[in-house]
Amino acid sequence: MLWYLLVFVRPYALRMIGAFCAMLAVTGLTLYTPFLVKEAIDGPIASGDIPGLNQIVLLLLLAFIGLYLGSMAQRYLLSWVGQKVLADLRSELFRHLQELPLSYHDSHIIGVTISRVISDVGVINQLLSQGLITLTGDSLLLGGIIIVMLSLNAQLALVTFSIIPVIVIATMIFARRAKVAFRNTRARNATMIGDLAENLSGIRVIQAFANESSTSLRFDEVNQANRDAHIDAMSLSFIFLPTVEFLSMAATGIVLLFGGISVAQGNLTLGTVIAFLAYVNRFFLPVQELSQLYATMQTAMAGGERVINLLNTEPAIKDKDTAAEMPPIAGRIEFQAVHFGYREGLPVLRDINLEIPAGTMVALVGPTGAGKTSIANLIARFYDVSDGALRIDGIDIRDVKQRSMRRQMGLVSQDPFIFAGSIADNIRFGKPAASLEEVVAAGELANVGEFARDLPLGYETEIYEDGANLSVGQRQLISIARAILADPRILIMDEATSSVDMVTEALIQDALKKLLSERSAIVIAHRLSTIVNADMICVVDDGRIHEMGTHTELLAQRGLYFDLYERQFVEMAVNPVEHNFCR
Ligand SMILES: Nc1ncnc2c1ncn2[C@@H]1O[C@H](COP(=O)(O)OP(=O)(O)OP(=O)(O)O)[C@@H](O)[C@H]1O
Ligand SMILES: [Mg+2]
Repeated sequence: MLWYLLVFVRPYALRMIGAFCAMLAVTGLTLYTPFLVKEAIDGPIASGDIPGLNQIVLLLLLAFIGLYLGSMAQRYLLSWVGQKVLADLRSELFRHLQELPLSYHDSHIIGVTISRVISDVGVINQLLSQGLITLTGDSLLLGGIIIVMLSLNAQLALVTFSIIPVIVIATMIFARRAKVAFRNTRARNATMIGDLAENLSGIRVIQAFANESSTSLRFDEVNQANRDAHIDAMSLSFIFLPTVEFLSMAATGIVLLFGGISVAQGNLTLGTVIAFLAYVNRFFLPVQELSQLYATMQTAMAGGERVINLLNTEPAIKDKDTAAEMPPIAGRIEFQAVHFGYREGLPVLRDINLEIPAGTMVALVGPTGAGKTSIANLIARFYDVSDGALRIDGIDIRDVKQRSMRRQMGLVSQDPFIFAGSIADNIRFGKPAASLEEVVAAGELANVGEFARDLPLGYETEIYEDGANLSVGQRQLISIARAILADPRILIMDEATSSVDMVTEALIQDALKKLLSERSAIVIAHRLSTIVNADMICVVDDGRIHEMGTHTELLAQRGLYFDLYERQFVEMAVNPVEHNFCR
């Protein structure tokens, strides 16, 4: 995993090498300074050699300045690389998330994905940038201290090291528990963010059904689970760190006792004992750091696995290596024996055979859940057919690059999405390079102007996230304008005017008719008045196309379409007052 992630550090190798050199200098100087103190005490101080003392103190001063600069450089370089890696990882994740097909996003909780991109990546970065250097630095320091102590006085060193097995056992116990505890914190954290994000987007429903207290209770639950997981993990550190401190005191005691006795017996110099005390002190800091690093590593591993899994999730819909650019589309759409299901064993569309000649407007009607949106999803290649083939201008859409095809399509989806930004920005999403004149022209065709004129800043009026300060019909008009601006060769409108009043709808249809001449349009509608003029109407029911023909032909057949039509129109004609009232 580390190797995989190290790819992200590679671009900053030079700075990492710089940080590594700074770390080596810091480690060396940390080892050297107690030795200088010993030299001063045993040499010039013992013999009263003041110039000699001055020299050593000057050396010590230089060493401290070196330490100061070295650790500053190390910290600066590591934070710098850390932030770069963090941003790179997030960009890469975001890019990848955008590549992943709708089937991925449909089945994953947004908040959990957000927590991957924000917090998991944060811990991984900690491990990559700080962790690796700390690991090598501390290991070198530990090894160095052991060697220096042994060379200063092997006997005293060995006595002091008698404490090491205790440290090893304590660390092992801590490590084993930390692994579980820290993994737990990652999972709980993601669940909490997921719950928070979902409840915030569903706030309208929560308030409408006065469900605040039960959603609060549920949030409290995940929040408390998250808290407990963190307390669990922290309390491990709280037990472990004082244990290490206690052991460090014990080691100091051992050095004082055995070293003191040796000094009294004249077998050891005072300087050596003082140097030992300093080394023992420095010995436990890396032990603490390393075990904490282990905990960070556990967290990072847990997060890292998820992030790598995400980065390695192959898009289910991917351009073939041989995929060509889609040539300019004329607009002939052909379903040949298409079968489709979102999940295996659950067929949604069965044996769809349909040919839409270029430049025609085809309507899909049928009951809720019949599969109309699914047909639209296939044309836009949000999903691939399970069986059969879907061709545009005779080209199987699996053989061309997705983007080259979608760029020539316009989609007004059943659930129009409005980004935070101005009305103009939202329309311009269909063609980012469009001028304001083009944006306004598209807006006028879609009747956006009708309500934009009443707003203080017109087309420049700021819209809240998800279009919260617009009516649903107004959101639909903006998304129609967006599709018009994109100037698509194939336009898909899924219930695009379902929330727009009938007069406005008729105006838009007139505008579209002119615009769409020589282009293909697929219009899905429950309100049959929308589609009576379509070149062809397909009645979809239970995943099959049941009837096909023009409005007049289908009425004459007296089948499903006739039933649907009769229910909508005859009722209205027979009882217009009541019908209007009911609406
Ligand atoms: N993302 C999805 N994952 C799994 N099943 C899905 C998904 N989207 C739709 N379905 C299922 O596929 C079937 C057809 O859905 P579809 O959205 O195509 O219906 P529709 O004809 O557009 O209905 P409506 O008129 O209500 O919009 C439904 O049974 C639905 O439960
Ligand atoms: Mg639908």
